[in-house]
Amino acid sequence: MNALTTLLGTEFPLIQAPMAGVQGAALAVAVSNAGALGSLPCATLSPDAMDRELAALAAGTQRPYNVNFFCHAQPEADEAREAAWRAWLTTYYHEAGLDIDTVPAGAGRVPFNRAALDILERFRPKVVSFHFGLPDLDLLDRVKGWGAVVLSSATTVEEARWLEAFGVDAVIAQGIEAGGHRGMFLSDDLTTQTGTFALLPQIVAAVSVPVIAAGGIADASGVAAAMALGASGVQVGTSFLCCTEATTSALHRAALQSEAAHHTALTHLFTGRPARGIVNRVMRELGPMNPVAPAFPLATAAIAPLRSHWEAKGSGDFSPLWSGQNASGCREVPAAQLVNELVQGFNARPATR
Ligand SMILES: Cc1cc2nc3c(=O)[nH]c(=O)nc-3n(C[C@H](O)[C@H](O)[C@H](O)COP(=O)(O)O)c2cc1C
Repeated sequence: MNALTTLLGTEFPLIQAPMAGVQGAALAVAVSNAGALGSLPCATLSPDAMDRELAALAAGTQRPYNVNFFCHAQPEADEAREAAWRAWLTTYYHEAGLDIDTVPAGAGRVPFNRAALDILERFRPKVVSFHFGLPDLDLLDRVKGWGAVVLSSATTVEEARWLEAFGVDAVIAQGIEAGGHRGMFLSDDLTTQTGTFALLPQIVAAVSVPVIAAGGIADASGVAAAMALGASGVQVGTSFLCCTEATTSALHRAALQSEAAHHTALTHLFTGRPARGIVNRVMRELGPMNPVAPAFPLATAAIAPLRSHWEAKGSGDFSPLWSGQNASGCREVPAAQLVNELVQGFNARPATR
């Protein structure tokens, strides 16, 4: 038991990272039932899907679980930028025999809002976590109103201090090794982004709430090392991607367990915000960062048909193959087995060799 397990009500201070698009309630249920904190990502769920997954989660475990949301500001549509982005993609549309003029523009992800909160409130999860800062204070107050523990990711010391000032119960220190979206929200300057072992001790020194280490942790010795640097717990994402309960596609699973996973980069081609994924054709040819890509989450619309087209042919050339820098923990095992292996790190000292 430590400050974090007391806060979360779990047996172990281990959080399965919420991972939008590659998991539903099943993974979270398995992790929570194994004594860690399972998470349900809601960023890409419709209200109906969210309702369904939350019901499955509540039915599947009596233990605490986490429900996760994005809380970005929705950008204004920018027609000139959208047209420029489509011009960059035209050759790919021709190659695939698709018509770019039939693709509707639009947001792929909706930030946490009143409608989501109304659904969430019926389930009153023990833990609610956010990515990209925090929602408006009136929404946050309602979440706290049922006693929920609130977590959010910080990618700099400044963000950690900001989150503490706005009342989070614990800060997730997300190092640059992490898979998926950078949680950065006070700056979009990538030179501020540092590795987990540079970021973690600085955040631990800067805030008084518990700090959870995330990014590049893939086995028990990584867990032990994070704890030795002052973490109160760890959040692990990439290693859960090949678990049997995850919905990660066969294509994505194969990439994670291949040599390709040794080549990751931050890219904003798929959504408009930097996120770490396995380097593929579109990242090599257009980016990985390209100033023309529309603002988050508007970049998703025009690239999605290319993704579907090529995935149907067995190719991940246009897919976001999200992965952290350390995919060595990706194996086709039940999540409970992975939890059992990772938690050994809470008893161990970091390896000396
Ligand atoms: C496939 C994938 C999807 C992710 N989606 C989310 C998400 O929906 N919400 C969130 O807060 N973090 C998300 N993350 C980031 C994780 O919370 C976490 O920071 C990261 O997985 C930790 O690093 P690791 O992948 O090296 O373990 C995602 C990560 C991955 C790999």
